[in-house]
Amino acid sequence: MSETISTLIKERRSVRKYDPDFTIEKNEILEMLEQATLAPSTSNLQPWEFLVFLDAEERKDLRKIAYNQEQIETASAVIAVLGDKEFYKNIDPVYDSMSEAGFVDEASKAVLVGNAHKAYPHAPEESRKNMATFDSGLAAMQFMLIAKERGYATGPMGGFDKVKFAQRFNISERYFPIVLITLGKENAPAYSTTRIAIEDKVKFI
Ligand SMILES: Cc1cc2nc3c(=O)[nH]c(=O)nc-3n(C[C@H](O)[C@H](O)[C@H](O)COP(=O)(O)O)c2cc1C
Repeated sequence: MSETISTLIKERRSVRKYDPDFTIEKNEILEMLEQATLAPSTSNLQPWEFLVFLDAEERKDLRKIAYNQEQIETASAVIAVLGDKEFYKNIDPVYDSMSEAGFVDEASKAVLVGNAHKAYPHAPEESRKNMATFDSGLAAMQFMLIAKERGYATGPMGGFDKVKFAQRFNISERYFPIVLITLGKENAPAYSTTRIAIEDKVKFI
């Protein structure tokens, strides 16, 4: 029986030491990303893209861009989570697909699509980037828990030069890098961490 979500959450750690000889099939990574993107998103517009690094040569360069953090090369894969600044381009395909699936009737679809076209293309870029970052974060978290459920280790990494990343890997203007996630087999136990007492973080009003 698979572990409960509570156990997975409790046992997940950011792993930095990986078995460099361990590989994970492309198809399995795709399956995990498919599951991860069941995450909720703003108007279901799914403002994420994933660049999956498997190639050793590309990863040598990525390691330099990520301030020489070794897990970039020793993990089985590194997933770059990119945000889509122009996620409003998904409005029509997403709502067409919902109506084809019979999940929304034509009248409701017209209202939803109309509202989305009014709201998002004209929103300031900063606010579109914030939405994309938040939504992609939800998918990224799900990915790490899904990987954990399958016995894999992960580590989120914000420590990389985002400008150099976009240049080196030809990221188009539409997308921006948010976080890298290393994925692989743990080679050494990750160190444990603590959290600030929840009572110091929560107010009931
Ligand atoms: C957005 C983000 C960026 C992070 N960047 C790095 C990083 O560049 N390198 C690293 O070793 N860990 C990085 N971490 C991992 C954190 O240090 C880690 O999540 C934190 O210490 C709590 O430990 P835990 O994840 O094992 O519970 C990052 C985590 C997040 C969420």
